[in-house]
Amino acid sequence: MKNETISPATLLQKLRGTNPPLLLDVRNNSDFQSWHIPGSENMTASDLEQKMSQLDKDREIVTICARGVSSKGSAELLSKNGYQTKVLEGGLKGWNTVYEIVEIKPVTLSYLEVFQVKRLGKGCLSYMVVLVDKKHAIVIDPSQHLIKYTDYLNEHNIKIVAVIDTHIHADHISAGRLLAEQESATYLLPKKSAVSFPFQSLEDSLRGIVGVETQIIETPGHTNESVCIVLDKSFLFTSDTLFVESVGRSDLGQEVAHNAKILFHSVIDEIFKFDDKLVVLPAHNQKTMLPGEGAYSAMLGDIKKKNDINKFNTDDEFASFIKEHPSPTPPNYSKIKEINKSGERSDNDLDELELGGNRCSVSL
Ligand SMILES: [Fe+2]
Repeated sequence: MKNETISPATLLQKLRGTNPPLLLDVRNNSDFQSWHIPGSENMTASDLEQKMSQLDKDREIVTICARGVSSKGSAELLSKNGYQTKVLEGGLKGWNTVYEIVEIKPVTLSYLEVFQVKRLGKGCLSYMVVLVDKKHAIVIDPSQHLIKYTDYLNEHNIKIVAVIDTHIHADHISAGRLLAEQESATYLLPKKSAVSFPFQSLEDSLRGIVGVETQIIETPGHTNESVCIVLDKSFLFTSDTLFVESVGRSDLGQEVAHNAKILFHSVIDEIFKFDDKLVVLPAHNQKTMLPGEGAYSAMLGDIKKKNDINKFNTDDEFASFIKEHPSPTPPNYSKIKEINKSGERSDNDLDELELGGNRCSVSL
């Protein structure tokens, strides 16, 4: 029997609708615990025979595995037993190609239009900033599927003039260099970026391109070259340094305690000195996202009060905690970083390299 499949894009629409299907993740429990679509149920293929009677026969079921292969057997078994079942094409690897675009409203007056591009499975957040003339845009921290940005902007007759990476990413393949090349735009990186290709520095060039007040804040710790960016006294792009509930990890290189202290000071001394009314826009959500949840952002004033970094009184306390509570490393992070540093994608299966959840923040 041939299984019916559902594409990630169609599943996205259905999850936003009034009768969302049941997501049945058939991977083993430890894989499920480390990464899954929120709201999924976990029932391994071997458990299914015994447990399927617990499932609702009137509700559509989508079976999910890592790559859309092993879940076919489960779907077949369910279909034979009268359940309406489809297989998620490409599994979670396919789900990682799904993006959602949400407009961000500033708290203070700004003529910039900012859109958060949410990569739901991976938890990556990037941004399209439409400039005051409404005809040009910059893209910040784009994920590898460039078409998600170009389709949207082309449809609105907006030309990309610059593409920015706030640091050299280790969790996802950046589209930055390629997108800039394809659109004849300027590729901007922090001046301290150790990459093997020429680039223009954000510090020297961004202000002239965006035409509004711009501040580049050096915020090392997550990586040495990391920066955060304030645009038009309204939007604060906090990269992987500051998230809504927590902060970025500083433990992927050597000198974990030293880097943790640096990150602590970047947040407390550099970012927290800015105005409470700035809208904070991080480069990641802290977990996998569901469609239709809106933007992942908060006002800086709220973050100053509620962020978990407040649990620590000193950089020493913070550094000790980070050293004693190592987080799992992101899958393939060395290889991904190497690709981003070289700017060469070569023949790598990028979706395969990126398979796995978001491990960019620390749980404090
Ligand atoms: Fe990062």
